[in-house]
Amino acid sequence: MENFNTLTIETERLLLVPISIQYAQEIFKEFTPEITTYMFPKSPKHITETEKFIQESIDKNTNWKNYQIAILDKITQEFLGCWGLHFKNPEAPELGIRIKKWAFGKKIGREAVAGLADRAQNNLEFKYLYYPVDKDNIPSRKIAESLWWIIERDADGEERVQTKDTLDPNRKLNGVEYKIPKK
Ligand SMILES: CC(C)(COP(=O)(O)OP(=O)(O)OC[C@H]1O[C@@H](n2cnc3c(N)ncnc32)[C@H](O)[C@@H]1OP(=O)(O)O)[C@@H](O)C(=O)NCCC(=O)NCCS
Repeated sequence: MENFNTLTIETERLLLVPISIQYAQEIFKEFTPEITTYMFPKSPKHITETEKFIQESIDKNTNWKNYQIAILDKITQEFLGCWGLHFKNPEAPELGIRIKKWAFGKKIGREAVAGLADRAQNNLEFKYLYYPVDKDNIPSRKIAESLWWIIERDADGEERVQTKDTLDPNRKLNGVEYKIPKK
């Protein structure tokens, strides 16, 4: 593999392909304020913001700074969503995922995250994969819990909840953190 722009992962129903500019229109159309409710990024106002995000992601894929992919239906090639694994701290790569609304609830999110976790376990060096989510984001939490991610807790055993800023000044997150250690 030359870099993350040449790595595709195949799962039972999905192809996880490197992000590219051909998905700009779909990403722009699908990532509405509703989808980003529990996310750090803001919903883009203009397609040029999406194109900038994609170009930066391609550059980071080239430099191993992130692995940003588009989730496609294996048979129809329909765009279903995105995930990104970010290597700001290479010991603890951080995962973010978004599925388009039409595709919610079909276990696509879980299959896409499981495909990534499996591939990363076999091919990447890290201490743990890290998945920050909002404590009220039930589908996202269920994905983590179904894949045996461990939640961070305070000394008294309570889930550690941290208020976090987002790119939208009007929106904050009540973050909890899941980790999956390297096998
Ligand atoms: C979070 C997200 C990725 C989940 O993807 P998805 O493909 O819809 O989820 P899945 O179909 O794989 O379902 C995962 C679990 O959540 C449950 N679930 C799905 N939607 C639900 C809902 N609205 N309420 C409660 N549970 C729900 C499913 O039943 C499943 O639970 P199970 O494992 O016990 O059967 C998707 O909702 C999304 O993109 N949301 C917007 C962006 C976002 O919040 N991303 C996460 C930021 S970290």
